This record gives sequence, structure tokens and C-alpha cells, in this order.
Amino acid sequence: MTRQTTPRRDPFDLAARLGLDGARPGWVHLVGAGPGDPGLLTLRGAALLGSADLVAYDRLADPRLLDLLPTGAEAVRVGKNPDRSCRERTWTQDEITTLLVQAAREGKAVVRLKGGDPFVFGRGGEEALACREAGVPFEVVSGVSSAVAGPAAAGIPVTHRGLATGVAFVTGHEDPAKPTSQVDWESLARFHGTLVFLMGVRNAPEICSRLREHGRDDATPAAVVQWATTPRQRVLHTTLASLPDDLAGSGMGSPATIVVGDVAAVGRLLGPPAEPARRTTTTPAAPPVPTTVDAPKVPA
Ligand SMILES: C[S@@+](CC[C@H](N)C(=O)[O-])C[C@H]1O[C@@H](n2cnc3c(N)ncnc32)[C@H](O)[C@@H]1O
Repeated sequence: MTRQTTPRRDPFDLAARLGLDGARPGWVHLVGAGPGDPGLLTLRGAALLGSADLVAYDRLADPRLLDLLPTGAEAVRVGKNPDRSCRERTWTQDEITTLLVQAAREGKAVVRLKGGDPFVFGRGGEEALACREAGVPFEVVSGVSSAVAGPAAAGIPVTHRGLATGVAFVTGHEDPAKPTSQVDWESLARFHGTLVFLMGVRNAPEICSRLREHGRDDATPAAVVQWATTPRQRVLHTTLASLPDDLAGSGMGSPATIVVGDVAAVGRLLGPPAEPARRTTTTPAAPPVPTTVDAPKVPA
């Protein structure tokens, strides 16, 4: 029997078929670009990019998304360049909000394209508040966050029946050694769910130390996913105690998502094949996953 295939459709055609509105003059649209793979932009995001006058985009947004812009639209890269690795201008948050507000006041249809989801460690709330204070209308268009898509790309479900009934997204940017830390390490260590740290590569040793000091088991499965959903993706499987050394030895850096919790072991079953270790010490074998009805069997 011959199977009928459906012809592929252009996303703009699809956006039109779904009745999605384009970007509005005088508005700021805060749009999530997704974690990296341009295919993870939402259809609404694509429709807005396809009708914008000005796009202010982040360092982590895939530049190919700019191919969706109409001819004549202006694209401004408002990178923060945290590692100062190039001579690119670094924009302050105030400069970014001023650009958005001014452009909207000039009657432009403005898209602020932010990596992942605008409201997950993206300072989207601050940009929305700045628009509100300036009397500029805005909307938030959710994106696929690396907090969920990063682990998923490594085969790690952030919740899994029998292993984790909850998940906490935590900034790894705050120095855990500082006395005024707003992160409640004691509660996080005791939390019987998955911990997902964003912006945590530099502070990984302190993050792991704090969790262990407050009683989280050394053998807790952990994983690091760098450049998730892109061709540069790399995954490290380890344990809480070994993570700092294994990460340092792996040569992996930012952007990466760190997962701590039993679900990390599931990635060994569902994720892409492990890459060969870059250093002589091997990543320890996965500790056994608690045996419950839903717990997968992880090879020793
Ligand atoms: C400023 S936060 C922005 C998060 C973004 N709003 C989101 O929802 O994904 C940047 C951090 O997100 C994480 N991240 C972003 N893209 C990533 C990717 N493709 N792979 C792994 N982690 C990523 C990293 O922890 C990075 O340091």
C-alpha cells in the first residue's frame, strides 16, 4: 500500500493558516528563541520575526533566525559577552531597555529575541517592567527553555515518576561563597527532586560543595549538557562528588545546564551515546536508580 505523504509547509504559510498576528507597530514583543536549535522557535515567534522592523537579539539566539526578518528590518546584537572573548560591544541592561522603548516610541514593531524563555533567567521581567513604566505596550511570547530542553536533549526527563516529583531551577551565577547568598542551599540539598542549575559552570565546584555540606549524597547522579540541541552539544555524566573534577577535565564550558538528581542517570539510557573520556580518569559508573515501578534500569 502506498503511504500518502503530506507536502511540507513553509512556517509563514503555517503561521498564516493558524491566524497568527504579526508584530505590531509601537509594541515590544519579548520572544523566546529556544535553547539553540532554530527548529525550537515557536510559530508565534516566527510570525513576529517575519514582520518586525527592529530585532534586538541575544548572544545565545541562533543567528539563522534573522533570516526570517523581512527585507529592510534592522537587527541589533545586544550581547552581554560575559567572557569578554571578543571585542564586541557589551550592552548594559539600561541601554537595552532604552533601545527597546525608543524604537517602539518611534512606531517600530520591535522584537526582543532572547535565548530560551524570556522569563527564565532572561531578565525578561525587567524589560517588561521598563516597557510598562514607559507606557509602551508589550507582550511576552514564551520560548523553550534550556532549563528543560537542555536535560531533555541529553535524554534526561526533569521529572520522572518514582525518581523526581519536582524540579527546581536555580541560578549558578551567584557566588555560593558570598555571605549574603539568596540561594537556600540547605533546602536545595534536602529537596527530593531534580536541581537544574543555569549559568553554573564557573561556580560548579562551590555549588557541589554546598550541596554536599548540607547533606546531599556524594553519589547523587549528575550531568552537564553544553550547547544543548545544537551540533556542538556535549554531555557529561558523573556524580555530585566527581562533577567538579570531571567537568574541569572535560574541557566543557558555558553555555551549559547542570542537572543534579536521580533523573540524571536516566540520560545514560535515553541520551545520545557517551563520548570517549578526554582524560585518563574515567567517569564513575551510574549509581543504581531506586527500584520502583517506574524506575528505569540503568546499566552498572
Ligand atoms: C542568562 S541564562 C538564559 C536562560 C534562558 N532564558 C533559557 O530559558 O534557557 C543563560 C544560561 O542558560 C543556559 N543555556 C542556554 N542555552 C543553553 C544551551 N543551548 N545548552 C545548555 N545550556 C544553555 C546556560 O546555563 C547559560 O549559562
